[in-house]
Amino acid sequence: MMSNMPYLSRLLVDRGLVLKPRLWAPRTRLMLVSEPRVWKLHGSRVLAGLRRAGLECGMHLLPRGERAKTWSAVSRLMSRMLRQGLGRDGAVLALGGGSVTDAAGFAAAIYMRGINWVSLPTTLLGQVDAGIGGKTGIDLAQGKNLAGAFHPPLITACDTALLETLSPRDFNCGLAEAVKFALVCDPGLWAFIRKNWTQLLLAQPAATETLVRRAAAGKLRLTTRDPQETKGLRDFLNFGHTIGHALELAAGLGPLRHGEAVVCGMRAALRLSQAHAGLAAGASDEIDAFLRLLPVPRLAPRPNSVLAALNLDKKTRAGRGRFVLLRSIGRPVIKSGLPQRSVRRAIQSSLQELRA
Ligand SMILES: NC(=O)c1ccc[n+]([C@@H]2O[C@H](COP(=O)([O-])OP(=O)(O)OC[C@H]3O[C@@H](n4cnc5c(N)ncnc54)[C@H](O)[C@@H]3O)[C@@H](O)[C@H]2O)c1
Ligand SMILES: [Zn+2]
Repeated sequence: MMSNMPYLSRLLVDRGLVLKPRLWAPRTRLMLVSEPRVWKLHGSRVLAGLRRAGLECGMHLLPRGERAKTWSAVSRLMSRMLRQGLGRDGAVLALGGGSVTDAAGFAAAIYMRGINWVSLPTTLLGQVDAGIGGKTGIDLAQGKNLAGAFHPPLITACDTALLETLSPRDFNCGLAEAVKFALVCDPGLWAFIRKNWTQLLLAQPAATETLVRRAAAGKLRLTTRDPQETKGLRDFLNFGHTIGHALELAAGLGPLRHGEAVVCGMRAALRLSQAHAGLAAGASDEIDAFLRLLPVPRLAPRPNSVLAALNLDKKTRAGRGRFVLLRSIGRPVIKSGLPQRSVRRAIQSSLQELRA
């Protein structure tokens, strides 16, 4: 399937899905792609299930985490695909968090000018965000996600039972992205999150499954309406990400997880929303009270390095130094050219929270 074809992704959400390949694996030659930690926890069961279903399947492990998203890792994967005789009718199965689905999806996008792939996200972040929507890619030395392709998976199959082995820290990162989605796109989902916040913080399975069902379906709906990010709809998903990315970069990509940076970025964006988008103080304070319960590590890059990272981000993203702000829950607005003073103040207060 080429990336300029109509958007055809399907979504499945259930417990135990990865062990039922008949529901999601195309009947063709397959390459199961994962990374060492996920492989150790879940990989061999998945491969055994595929083989039991009579499917011909090779396997390849990418490095864990962001190191999967490099040219060299993707190039080694594609060489393996060639050696295993994967042709244009073959398909990639990406079993892992966002780093695996981004990198393996990208390999599928460019291998022989594009072959099919199936997304099997294993993190909460992957199941509510990264594994859905067809953005695939890798990082360059200058920054994250600077090379890639829109190449939607044939199917995204979210097995919520896989989330039970996630560390609380990784779980919370996914929760942050789900909150982001609810705040900008889905007031009903926000109401669910508020009501079930304690269960969600405890990663309680029933609440988690409902969250995944609703957030994943919502993201798929949105990306189907704007598959190549040309209509501006997907821009709203960057709520909390302008300052979030800058914090992540200034902290030196690693110590502050993406989801944690997004928590701080959203708290800063709430402040900016009050000042520049008319968000009511009561609503802002209420959301902030929820976000405050998502732990972030105690570290604090200097305000100047965060501002420098913000400017770098602006340059590498072709001048998109814009902020997604909230007028109210479910009503985002994009603002550019905010006064530097205001941005600096929002950064300073989010840094105080990181130090607190
Ligand atoms: N394509 C998109 O639309 C999109 C959207 C958001 C984020 N992303 C990308 O996603 C990446 C982050 O994704 P992530 O947070 O899933 O990261 P990740 O893939 O690095 O996984 C985080 C950690 O969780 C571990 N893990 C994964 N599944 C597990 C399981 N079931 N049990 C126990 N441990 C498990 C991994 O080994 C890793 O240590 C970033 O590179 C980001 O740029 C992409
Ligand atoms: Zn994000």
